[in-house]
Amino acid sequence: MDKLAIYGGTPLITEQWPKWPFAGDRERELIEEVLSGDMWGGTGLGPKIAAFNEKFAHYCDVGYGAAVANGTVSMELCLVAWGIGPGDEVIVPASTFMATAIAVHNVGATVVYVDIDPKTLNIDNAKIADAITERTKAIIPVHMGGHPCDMDPLMEIAKKHGIKVLEDAAQAHGAIYKGRKAGSLADAASFSFQQSKNLQSGEGGMVVSDNKELIDLIHYSLGKFGRGIREKYSGHIHYRFGWNACYTEIQAAIALAQLERLEEQTEKRTANVKKLYALLDDIDGIETFKWQPYCDRHAHHLFLLNFKSEQFENVKRAQFLAALNKEGVLASSFYPMALYDQPLYQSDKNLSMRKRACPVAEKASRDVIFLEQNVLLADGRQMERIADAVRKIRKNAKQLHRIDIDESEFVGSSVLKKARRSS
Ligand SMILES: Cc1ncc(COP(=O)(O)O)c(C=O)c1O
Repeated sequence: MDKLAIYGGTPLITEQWPKWPFAGDRERELIEEVLSGDMWGGTGLGPKIAAFNEKFAHYCDVGYGAAVANGTVSMELCLVAWGIGPGDEVIVPASTFMATAIAVHNVGATVVYVDIDPKTLNIDNAKIADAITERTKAIIPVHMGGHPCDMDPLMEIAKKHGIKVLEDAAQAHGAIYKGRKAGSLADAASFSFQQSKNLQSGEGGMVVSDNKELIDLIHYSLGKFGRGIREKYSGHIHYRFGWNACYTEIQAAIALAQLERLEEQTEKRTANVKKLYALLDDIDGIETFKWQPYCDRHAHHLFLLNFKSEQFENVKRAQFLAALNKEGVLASSFYPMALYDQPLYQSDKNLSMRKRACPVAEKASRDVIFLEQNVLLADGRQMERIADAVRKIRKNAKQLHRIDIDESEFVGSSVLKKARRSS
């Protein structure tokens, strides 16, 4: 029982975690409706997309939504709509998925990296003002892992400097900040429906906002080759530069069905996280990130934890993760470096980037781990097994020094899933 699974002992968890992505009868029914009709994709102006735009915007407590191909192009189109481009600066947290910065680079603007708050891993509001120059045009706060950023002070700063704010809510479907939904907290918000997300359609994204003009511009024109807005579908007349960022009817069918389950799933994740807080807080060396007072609901896309190696006999985080995964817990390491250290800045010297000192982001890249969101959809008793696994590993931590593993082997959950499938 006590022998670590990585050395041939019995894993504490042998049941499969809830399947993700998951599709049921409802997805099949709605996809069938699309397949029996004559609009599967094409212009991206079909009935399922219209319904999803309306329902998801309503879910976010805003007036309008424009579904697009993914959650990167959604940010990009929003920046373009705001007239942001070369010579402008956009503030981005130094610790996020690269897509947040890629969107800024794609419009030719300068990415300005700012450090994160150690309590949430969201952008540190106290460090934003110092990064603002006369060229700053926007801030993109990321609701990391699904915990809302502290938006009121951030919006104050933006208002004072006349800067736009775009929420990167790719990981925060259904999060609530001071009674208000993620997606309704800034000038506009961007969501992703890529398959790992809590609301997913394989790929996809959406810009939501109360600003109808902005959403119409993205929905009818910027995302559709620069066609007309008022004309709705202007065929081969192009009024401005545009993208092909079309979402498809099949994707919208999947997303509509997934949306029907989102609330129930979010409640389940929340209940399991409360259990995990209680269970893991008793274990030295594993530190949970708690909901801040302004957070009414965390979306729990990632269940983030701080791994304190010094309380685990100084083993490497990767050694701990290897042992944890062998015990049956799906866990991975956080973003591997502050984004300004990504090799693309060496390989592409044309990318325009400035950085502030970001020691918190650098430390998080070394210490933080996360559990997958589908782990949080399991039966509550499985949460106890997770804590048992951490305790078992801690008790035998000295043995982990023998595991020959590189940090990079636990970068990213897809790598991890692949490894598990092939083992
Ligand atoms: C924080 C963040 N921003 C942006 C994106 C980009 O979304 P997409 O993959 O749909 O382009 C993702 C996820 O993929 C994300 O996690």
